[in-house]
Amino acid sequence: METAVTALIDRVFGPGRFAKVSERLREGNHLLGDCSFVAMRGGQPVGCVRLWPVTIGGAPVAFLGPLAVDPDERSAGLGQTLVEAACEAARAAGWKAVMLVGDAPYFARAGFSASQTAGVVMPGPVDQRRVLVKALVPGGDEGLSGLVSVA
Ligand SMILES: CC(C)(COP(=O)(O)OP(=O)(O)OC[C@H]1O[C@@H](n2cnc3c(N)ncnc32)[C@H](O)[C@@H]1OP(=O)(O)O)[C@@H](O)C(=O)NCCC(=O)NCCS
Repeated sequence: METAVTALIDRVFGPGRFAKVSERLREGNHLLGDCSFVAMRGGQPVGCVRLWPVTIGGAPVAFLGPLAVDPDERSAGLGQTLVEAACEAARAAGWKAVMLVGDAPYFARAGFSASQTAGVVMPGPVDQRRVLVKALVPGGDEGLSGLVSVA
C-alpha cells in the first residue's frame, strides 16, 4: 500500500517534490497515521492526505501535506473531503491547529487562512502568503510564531 500511495504522490507532484521546503518537515519525521487518509477506487489509491507532527516556536501543530488527488478523480470534492477528514481526526486526537503551505484560494474553503501566520517561519524560502493555518479549537491559531521544526 505504501508503495502505491508513494507512486500516486510521485505522479501528482513529479520528481521535484523532494526539493520543496515542506519536505524538510517530513524527512526524519513520523506520519500521524490516525490523521492521514487514503481514498481508494478499484483497489488503487486515488487520493491521499498526510499529517505530521511539528512545532512552531515550540508549540505543537499538525503539518498537512502532501494532499494529492489523481487527475482522473478531480473536481468531485475528494480533495476537500480528505482535508476535512484529516482536520477532524486531528481535532479528535487533541491537536489545536493544522498548518500547511499551499494555495489560499483552495484551502480557504476548508477554513485555512494566512491571517495568523505572519510570524511563522518555514525552514527555507516560501511565499509567506502560502503559509496557512486552521484552528481546531477556539484560539488554536493565535500566538503562533517562530521556526517550524520537526517535533
Ligand atoms: C489540489 C487538489 C488536491 C484538489 O483535488 P480535488 O479533489 O480536485 O479537489 P476538490 O474537488 O475538493 O475541489 C476542486 C476545485 O478546486 C479548484 N482548485 C484546485 N486546485 C486549486 C488551486 N490550487 N487553487 C484554487 N482552486 C483550486 C478546482 O478548480 C476545482 O474547482 P471546481 O469545483 O470549480 O471545479 C488536486 O488538484 C491535486 O492533487 N493537485 C496537485 C497537487 C496539489 O496541488 N496539492 C495541494 C497542495 S499540497
